[in-house]
Amino acid sequence: MVNWESKLSDYARRVEPSAIFALLDMPRAPDTINLGPGEPDPALFPVGRIAQIIANELTDSGRARTALQYTVNAGLPPLRERLSALHRSRGLPSSKDNVLVTSGSQQAIDLVVSAFVQPGSRVAVQSPTYPGAMGILKAHGAAIVTLDDAFREAPREFAVIYVTPTFSNPSGETLDIAMRRRVLDLARGSGAILLEDDPYEAISFEDATPSTIQSLDAKNGIEQSQTLYTSTFSKSLTPGFRVGWLHGPSSIIRKLTLLKQSEDMQAGTLSQLVAAEAMQFVYSEHVPRLREEYRRRRDAMLGALERHFGGQAKWTRPAGGFFVWMTLPEHVDAVALLRVAALQGVTFVPGTACSHRGEYKNCLRLSYSTNPAATLEEAICRLGSAFRSFQKLTAGSR
Ligand SMILES: Cc1ncc(COP(=O)(O)O)c(C=O)c1O
Repeated sequence: MVNWESKLSDYARRVEPSAIFALLDMPRAPDTINLGPGEPDPALFPVGRIAQIIANELTDSGRARTALQYTVNAGLPPLRERLSALHRSRGLPSSKDNVLVTSGSQQAIDLVVSAFVQPGSRVAVQSPTYPGAMGILKAHGAAIVTLDDAFREAPREFAVIYVTPTFSNPSGETLDIAMRRRVLDLARGSGAILLEDDPYEAISFEDATPSTIQSLDAKNGIEQSQTLYTSTFSKSLTPGFRVGWLHGPSSIIRKLTLLKQSEDMQAGTLSQLVAAEAMQFVYSEHVPRLREEYRRRRDAMLGALERHFGGQAKWTRPAGGFFVWMTLPEHVDAVALLRVAALQGVTFVPGTACSHRGEYKNCLRLSYSTNPAATLEEAICRLGSAFRSFQKLTAGSR
């Protein structure tokens, strides 16, 4: 029998299962409410409109041939046009040559890391950070440093700085404009490529969100910018289409397109057609509904946290996105709490999954995106009683 393990490349050896998936087979109550996934609620997908778009594309034989054929590696031209118009409408100079359509933002992160990170390259990340990006960085052998340490160490060199400055996964927090400038200055001073990951930007609950770091950086034109920006239709439309994009200087977009070509040629043509058509209503009609519903859910979660944990824990108050980040007293081990909570019918992501050095032992990522308000209240009530059971169980050892 082949010993597959012994034959793996260094890269393949470094790819690890996400700490989040490793927790999925934990014993749990049958009706467990999962506050773990960072997924949009499928009940909110605009299924009828998507079905109509697909029917229109496929019933006309000329359009169907385009929809089912390969397209250019950088992405379907009308979608790239519309995405660059979206950036222009936000005050950024842009043409379709500044856009690469990717198979989700996950691939955008992977392409940028593949292009700029070698084993041992220093990469600065927010702490806590998105586990999916950390997995890619670890697989490429990056030497990961927290942003706070990077500020202290400046002006040392970094290959890449990776940030989710708006409605972050996992903390729900948004960097203010001063902090965005500070991150940009760090990138400029350390020669780093700045990767701005912005998947939740559409899901905002307040009128104003600070300018993207890329727009601060591109004051003299996008071609001079050292920021690469990625966003996605995964949260604003559906993740199943796997359509995201990168926006940046055209010369590096060309290089990243070559990398994408060798990975998967292009994002799916039909998915891109749907995204291009859906752009006519996503931001104007669909996103306002999502904002209203997700805001209601956030409020339900925050209200329930206040009732069940008031005075015993801290949590963030996100101005958008899908996540609340909760900090319990120091002695609490969130993985041990999760085992108790799963038996009492609620699960979440323990904070350690969001740190490259196992920090945030007493923190929880709680997602309010996939459950309606009443279910979230029940989930937090269960979490409160699991916390009290946990406190009793561990009282003797404290
Ligand atoms: C911060 C962050 N970046 C990237 C992604 C990947 O998104 P996509 O579905 O577009 O690949 C996610 C998904 O949850 C995310 O939270």
